[in-house]
Amino acid sequence: ARVVVLVSGSGTNLQALLDAAVDPAYGAAIVAVGADRDGIEGLARADRSGVPTFVAKLKDYSSRDAWDVALADRVAAFDPDLVVLAGFMKLVGPAFLERFAGRVVNTHPALCPSFPGVNGPGDALAYGVKVTGATLFVVDAGVDTGPIVAQTVVPVEDDDDVATLHERIKVAERRMLVTEVGRMAREGFRITDRKVRFGL
Ligand code: GRF
Repeated sequence: ARVVVLVSGSGTNLQALLDAAVDPAYGAAIVAVGADRDGIEGLARADRSGVPTFVAKLKDYSSRDAWDVALADRVAAFDPDLVVLAGFMKLVGPAFLERFAGRVVNTHPALCPSFPGVNGPGDALAYGVKVTGATLFVVDAGVDTGPIVAQTVVPVEDDDDVATLHERIKVAERRMLVTEVGRMAREGFRITDRKVRFGL
């Protein structure tokens, strides 16, 4: 399966996918990496792996919709079977979702539907939950609301701060992402009544 990954930051999730995809048996090939900003480690990681990159910055377009269409065009040029948002810090819009309907997945560092949005680890910590984790889901029009592919649970320790908790989540998140993207690539998946099931 052809996979395009979108990133905004350090790209450790991307790196885990790049490393897994070295083995052809993994089933997913990372054919391009896109970002909404330049100068980030995520793009450097793609460069080092010889994977083509592109950048679509919101401020270079007249509107959010125009950016969304441009981003979709850039992704579509690589003809992906699956688009993985791996720490991509912007919401993709209606044009993008229509173009890749049911084929865009995102990873969120909390157990959905708890703690959606940009501060999942901090919000979990502030609430005082004893376990949190990460969720891989199929992107829909909401914020971290789509059908869930997989979740992984991580304990919250008494002495955690946001950084230590997020780091523990990210270790589990990367492992889950690699496992599930490989499985989606090899087996395919479909969605009925919000339930994601592997196989065609
Ligand atoms: C991940 O925890 C992702 O879920 C969150 O931001 C982090 C990205 O990390 N939204 P990285 O760029 O993959 O290292």
